[in-house]
Amino acid sequence: MYSKESTKELQRLTTELIKKQGSGSLSKKDIEHIRNALRFHEYRYYILNEPLIADPEYDQLYKALEKIEQENPALVTVNSPTQRVANGLTKDFPTVQHLVPMLSLDNSYNSDDLIDFDRRARELTGLDKIEYCVEPKFDGGSISLIYENDLLIRGATRGDGVEGDEVTTNIRQIRSIPLSAKFSDYGLQQVEIRGEVLINKTNFARYNQQLVEQGLPPLANPRNAASGTLRIKDPAEVAKRNLEAFVYHISYFSLFKGKKIPPELTTHAGSLELLWGLGFRSPQKEKKIFKGIDAVVKHCHDFEAKRDGLPYEIDGMVIKVNDIALQDKMGMTTHHPRWAMAYKFKARQGTSKLLNVEFQVGRTGSITPVAKIQPVPIGGVTVSSISLFNEEVIKEKDLRTGDTVLVERAGDVIPYIVKSLAELRTGKEKKIVFPKICPVCASRLFKEEEEAVWRCINIECPAQVVERIIHFVSKDAMDIRGFGEANVRKFYELGLLQDIPGIYKLDFKKIGEMEGFGQKSIDNLQSAISHSKNQPLHRLIFALGIRFVGETTAKTLAQAVTYLLELKKLSIEELQDLEDIGPKVAGSVHQFFSNKDNIRMLEELEKLGLQLKNTKKQLTKGGNLAGASFLFTGTLPTLKRGDAEALVEENGGQILSGVSTKLNYLVVGEDAGSKLEKAKKINTVKIISEAEFLQVIGKK
Ligand code: IVH
Repeated sequence: MYSKESTKELQRLTTELIKKQGSGSLSKKDIEHIRNALRFHEYRYYILNEPLIADPEYDQLYKALEKIEQENPALVTVNSPTQRVANGLTKDFPTVQHLVPMLSLDNSYNSDDLIDFDRRARELTGLDKIEYCVEPKFDGGSISLIYENDLLIRGATRGDGVEGDEVTTNIRQIRSIPLSAKFSDYGLQQVEIRGEVLINKTNFARYNQQLVEQGLPPLANPRNAASGTLRIKDPAEVAKRNLEAFVYHISYFSLFKGKKIPPELTTHAGSLELLWGLGFRSPQKEKKIFKGIDAVVKHCHDFEAKRDGLPYEIDGMVIKVNDIALQDKMGMTTHHPRWAMAYKFKARQGTSKLLNVEFQVGRTGSITPVAKIQPVPIGGVTVSSISLFNEEVIKEKDLRTGDTVLVERAGDVIPYIVKSLAELRTGKEKKIVFPKICPVCASRLFKEEEEAVWRCINIECPAQVVERIIHFVSKDAMDIRGFGEANVRKFYELGLLQDIPGIYKLDFKKIGEMEGFGQKSIDNLQSAISHSKNQPLHRLIFALGIRFVGETTAKTLAQAVTYLLELKKLSIEELQDLEDIGPKVAGSVHQFFSNKDNIRMLEELEKLGLQLKNTKKQLTKGGNLAGASFLFTGTLPTLKRGDAEALVEENGGQILSGVSTKLNYLVVGEDAGSKLEKAKKINTVKIISEAEFLQVIGKK
């Protein structure tokens, strides 16, 4: 829709308008420019999922346009961005009309804005004090759901607010959205509901890790991941991403003949309760009711401090007039309801200078450009180093050293460069030249046709060797405590460690002579190394660092054999017959086990005492914990957390990520925290000690 040229031009225009807005010199002469800039950024945000400016910058311009239009009503046009919500249609799904237009929200950023909102609300209603319902502002993709005669009949994205994309099949993959709900119990025949689709932080991190393992750049933030997933044409893929949904508004309902409006629907809090009661995930637990704006302001500030502790992303709070009759009285503009206000938290964005780009060599030889930026605090963390993933990212964003860059860090998510501010260039910026040779071993770099990643294919490259060893000893792999990245590097540099088998041949006498190594740390290291020899087979397979083999695939492979070297005999086709293993993974595994050097290494590891047999195999599927779910909290008296979890999985049980009604057992150790409190409130969760846990799995 927008060419590269017009994109650049509109970005330049935007910066100019933002500067003008800052100096208070925007006027009615700028009106069409502001509209064009806003339309362009709406397109980037809603269609492409690739915003080029921060939300507060967009909001500033939007408000400036609103102000100019209010002062000059004759200049208002029907297609001004203030007259309809942002356009977001794609051609990929059938377009459907919402029963009621899906409006946006008015935004506020500080206490004064909220006090202003309250003043307007009091004026409009003629009341002294208003009751507000306050809930989180979920940061995902908005959806509309229609239920008819208790059945979910349609799910749609917001689109342009009037029409959206019909994505019912994808919506049906979301477990927190009931396929049927007893609306009829309340006399309701047809209901349209608004909500937000999210991907929680853990699932997002997991998904991104998979992308990185496949050499693909990870997604910028959970918001893009959620709204992008809604538009995927493969529902099975949608299901894998584990989307979640909160619903927070009933926008339309019709009643069965002779039925009256249920009393629940006379307040907003009541409608959240009704939805919750029908099995929806509404912010029933998160919502709070306040009389007057002062307590609302305090609550918004308090909640911001809790933001990082939530399992999903929120970008603010939404303040809603609780009484629906008052809402109707206050009405709405073409853009937002007058009875609601979003309070936006501090943006997790900042600007900094791109100082330099370093090129790091990974364990599979991949070359990753890493931007070194002037340290900048974002969301409580100082960011100074940002992965740029591959050459394409640098080209696409036209990054240059010396550029001012916009940086985003969403919650626990890795920081990311949104864009460079090309308008601020002085002419001294330098193009980033991707190396042709490995920065560590100087071998020529290669790139496969469909890949974006350059690789050093010298298997002996010192950088790769070190990274492979670091991965091997890491927590999720062989979990050799006390080894760590720093020691691997030190031992390698001193020639004490050259390859993976070298871990089991370390000369502890020499290490003892090194500074910083007392007898105790040597004893601990020695025992951790020796303990690792009996790690379950799937950990060893994962530790080998075979390309595309993450923890899940490693488990599948371990399950397929009773002895590691049997994998050597499996053909690519046989490997593909295993669960969730496609041609790419199968090819990589086959290549690894066809390589004589790798086999020699595995044989050496076996001679050094490592367990290559799958001792636990017979227990796994359908073990005595089959179907049961577990979660651990606090420090257990004898078992390490990882080992306890492995015991569950080996016996066919499942580890959950949080306390919910799906949880069967919470195993409690010392200093148990909020999980225990939460579990006490759910009758069906059995709270047990480590000793009881061992009894359950039959070890005592
Ligand atoms: S109420 C008429 N409540 O924020 C009802 N919206 O930036 C208007 N959002 O379009 C929406 N959490 O997609 C409402 N608790 C919440 C929300 C929420 C997130 C989204 C919604 C809206 C956008 C505006």
